[in-house]
Amino acid sequence: MKILVAGGAGFIGSVLVPQLQEHGYEVDVVDLLWFGNHLPEGTNVIQKDLFDLHEKDLEGYEQVVFLAGLSNDPMAAYSPARNFIENGALPSYLAFVAKNAKVRRFIYASSCSIYGYTVNELYDEQSPVTCAYPYGISKLQGERGVFQLGDDDFSTIALRQGTVCGHSRRTRFDLIVNTMFKSAIADGMVTVNNPSIWRPILDVRDTATAFLRAIQADYSISGAFNVAFGNFTVGQIADVVKEEVEQLIGKKVGITLNNVQDFRNYKVTCDKARTYLGFLPKYSISDIVSSLYDHLDDYGDFSNDLFYNINTFKKLD
Ligand SMILES: NC(=O)c1ccc[n+]([C@@H]2O[C@H](COP(=O)([O-])OP(=O)(O)OC[C@H]3O[C@@H](n4cnc5c(N)ncnc54)[C@H](O)[C@@H]3O)[C@@H](O)[C@H]2O)c1
Repeated sequence: MKILVAGGAGFIGSVLVPQLQEHGYEVDVVDLLWFGNHLPEGTNVIQKDLFDLHEKDLEGYEQVVFLAGLSNDPMAAYSPARNFIENGALPSYLAFVAKNAKVRRFIYASSCSIYGYTVNELYDEQSPVTCAYPYGISKLQGERGVFQLGDDDFSTIALRQGTVCGHSRRTRFDLIVNTMFKSAIADGMVTVNNPSIWRPILDVRDTATAFLRAIQADYSISGAFNVAFGNFTVGQIADVVKEEVEQLIGKKVGITLNNVQDFRNYKVTCDKARTYLGFLPKYSISDIVSSLYDHLDDYGDFSNDLFYNINTFKKLD
């Protein structure tokens, strides 16, 4: 099967694409390469804006996976207009072109960010979405635009991912577990901005498996699916990172507590992804920390701007 991975040279794509290749899929990547190209040699990577793809470019692909756009709140807040174009409009445009080219399935990288601020409730895919900030709203717009195009011949799946963390050939240190890992190693200290806030967490290896399961699912399946390993408070995450890093480096790690208000707070249930897609995540927060530690030599002093999306994004202007 031939698959186009749009935005496939980013953090998630750099783990997903090699996994798809190992499974025997023929994969092409279209990406602006904001963060470079770390994909395996021999991967067909086309450096191009997805808005410049047309129906004829999509012909011959059975499925399209959409991983592009602005991938966090700071980027969206820095450039709200571009955020609404890249996250709100681009998924609809690409799904529209893909459908015209007779692609069978479009899989959209959505986010649990769309749930916004919820208190003491476990959210499923039917729960209200209350996001009120550019990134969350734009991810919801992207998802809704894609779903509008779905029909019996065009399956549309949105994976509402928790915060994806862990090691990738194109690693980020602006994702909660990775950020805490970095400061535990570099500063001997983990900073906790608001310990009671909830976040669903997912290892990037499990994320790749979730996309694989969506690709493999029967074509009668469409819809939104929450995907996470589990729900944790920021305080819990910090405790696990602290203990794991202390064991790995044989030194004490401190915790600094701040009380910064957060506009995102949510817990989700992933029963639907388990039932319909057969998705079973296997990597815990401890596993995320040890996979990052295994690649410590790759990270230098953590100062490379490519590790921090907002730093690289500002330089693109
Ligand atoms: N990482 C997470 O925690 C997380 C959580 C939920 C959802 N998501 C979503 O998953 C997707 C992938 O996330 P990531 O962490 O891999 O992001 P990333 O920033 O590492 O990668 C995004 C890639 O898309 C490319 N891109 C952006 N706009 C493009 C365009 N117009 N044309 C071609 N290429 C373009 C960039 O060059 C980059 O390589 C994003 O849509 C993000 O919103 C990520």
